[in-house]
Amino acid sequence: MKIVVIGGSGLIGSKVVSELRARGHEALAASPASGVNTVTGEGLDAALKGAQVVIDVANSPSFEDRAVLEFFEASGRNLFAAEARAGVTHHVALSVVGTDRLAESGYFRGKIAQEKLIRASGVPYTIIHSTQFLEFLGGIAQGGTQGESVRLAPVYIQPIASDDVALAVADLSLGAPVNGVVEVAGPDKVRLTDLIQRFLAGTNDPRKVVADSAERYFGALLKDDTLVPGAGARLGAVTLDDWFSRSHAAAH
Ligand SMILES: NC(=O)c1ccc[n+]([C@@H]2O[C@H](COP(=O)([O-])OP(=O)(O)OC[C@H]3O[C@@H](n4cnc5c(N)ncnc54)[C@H](OP(=O)(O)O)[C@@H]3O)[C@@H](O)[C@H]2O)c1
Repeated sequence: MKIVVIGGSGLIGSKVVSELRARGHEALAASPASGVNTVTGEGLDAALKGAQVVIDVANSPSFEDRAVLEFFEASGRNLFAAEARAGVTHHVALSVVGTDRLAESGYFRGKIAQEKLIRASGVPYTIIHSTQFLEFLGGIAQGGTQGESVRLAPVYIQPIASDDVALAVADLSLGAPVNGVVEVAGPDKVRLTDLIQRFLAGTNDPRKVVADSAERYFGALLKDDTLVPGAGARLGAVTLDDWFSRSHAAAH
């Protein structure tokens, strides 16, 4: 099968491309680095020629509110027009668990717009909602940093290793379109404050975590279960103990 991976040079995309190739598929890594730009439409028709499946694991280069929204809206419009011309029969996209509960965040308003375009596209689809990647813990710590402290709401989180996300994306892209959302998460549910304190200690980072329920996560207030999946999520294999006993360099 020919499968185009939009964002195929990224953290998840490069792993998805390797996994699909290992399973014998023709996986094309498409991104600006290889002349395919979903925001401008450049290179899309040539990349999608003969493709049955498109996997979208691209991300906005800027996390500024307006830039994120413009990225996902322009990308969705260009992608679905090109997918219709190419006769693509399955669109798979990676989004975030709880996206619909995070509309106070500019980033998540972009993801909500992306998902809305998918549902309206007429192309059969599978939206994969993943929890936060373990590789993203440094980014979360950075987002909450104020001086020597990292201020975070003490809510639950169930982070997942990018290897497990990529496996789920590859598996689901080879199955029938769900025309709905599938949730994927890591095996361990912990308090965000405990997780980030463990990450900082493990990387010899002197910052200290301060728990404060009023702290926002990328602009959004969180309830205890905003970031965790419902029952029936597909769980990854990599546990937190596995992760923290591995090379800490991988967590940066
Ligand atoms: N971080 C998390 O914890 C988390 C959790 C759940 C879901 N997600 C979702 O996972 C997805 C992938 O994240 P990631 O961390 O793997 O991303 P990433 O490593 O930042 O990679 C982003 C990819 O997007 C590509 N890209 C940028 N602009 C593009 C454009 N105009 N046209 C086509 N491709 C473009 C980049 O291509 P170049 O290399 O050529 O620039 C790169 O391949 C995102 O949609 C994100 O919302 C993230």
